[in-house]
Amino acid sequence: MYLLNAWYVAGWSNEMTSKPIGRTLLDEPVVMYRGKDGGLVALEDRCCHRGMPLSHGEVFDNNIRCEYHGMMFEGSGRCVNIPGQEIIPQSARVRSFPIEERDDLVWIWMGDPTKADPALITPWPWHGRWPYKAKSEVLKCNYLLASDNLLDQTHGAYVHKSTLAAAPDDYARAEMQTDPTPDGVRFTRWMLNSIPPGIYASAVKFEGRVDRWQEFEYVAPSCILQFTGALDIGKGAYDKGVRDGGFGLRIFYGITPETEDTCWFFWSAANGYRQNEPEATETLFAMMEDAFKEDEIVLEAQHAMLKRLGGRPLINIASDVARVHARLALERKIAAERGIPRDQVVTSV
Ligand code: FES
Ligand SMILES: [Fe+2]
Repeated sequence: MYLLNAWYVAGWSNEMTSKPIGRTLLDEPVVMYRGKDGGLVALEDRCCHRGMPLSHGEVFDNNIRCEYHGMMFEGSGRCVNIPGQEIIPQSARVRSFPIEERDDLVWIWMGDPTKADPALITPWPWHGRWPYKAKSEVLKCNYLLASDNLLDQTHGAYVHKSTLAAAPDDYARAEMQTDPTPDGVRFTRWMLNSIPPGIYASAVKFEGRVDRWQEFEYVAPSCILQFTGALDIGKGAYDKGVRDGGFGLRIFYGITPETEDTCWFFWSAANGYRQNEPEATETLFAMMEDAFKEDEIVLEAQHAMLKRLGGRPLINIASDVARVHARLALERKIAAERGIPRDQVVTSV
């Protein structure tokens, strides 16, 4: 059960060109392209004549031509030309989806188009302020397992032994502040007086031990914002809210269902510590990419096992607190959209 009336990330601005791109989003095949006027178009990726994917087609001005028998569609989804035929029937149209660009991200609305208010898009102005590098990939797991993974950072000690983690003990004794919000949850993890992990130490010269923070915000259904960093101990990170002068990075995650068993993972890593050094941004991205490969192995194995034995109960432990608030927020929204009680909402495998 997906939340339909919501903005989901469909890609990055620089992926959208006059060459049509076909993606499955929430089980729906969608074709996206940039018209000659620079605007984006998103249509059902299935020609209404014989079902050919329009993503195999060609863009002319702001329209797309099906490369099977040549029907041409405009951005609203209406057919504007049928070769060799004068009259175009009313039924000659495909569905169109609201699509918007903000902060170098492309957002799509898969639900009722009359409810698609661009003011509801989650802002991420850091793409315009900090140098960053981004990626689009598909993970073979349900989209909620991917957000669960980010919302329970205690996995860092085990999954990311060689990349992000320093000492398992620092993870286990982290102080956690959790604040539920109407749209999800915010939480900060503090790892005070801890050894800087390799990724931090190679980026910034620390004097010794550091105070580390991990701030996360989940915005249902599928957006996670992260601000992570560290300062030398005694520089006021924890007690005075100081954030500048050490290591800091911001990560945007858009996790969009592709199918029940796969998801799009759109993420960017923005460099807040050596901003005039493009190679530092590249290195940061490469390190995060290595870490996410470690997550991917876990997520795919977990998804496969849950598919196999999904009926068996699972338990929650203390570290699930943010994850549980996130699920509750999503279930509230789906229940409201469908007019059903929250306990009848089924969100995942
Ligand atoms: S299938 Fe598209 S024009 Fe025939
Ligand atoms: Fe991870």
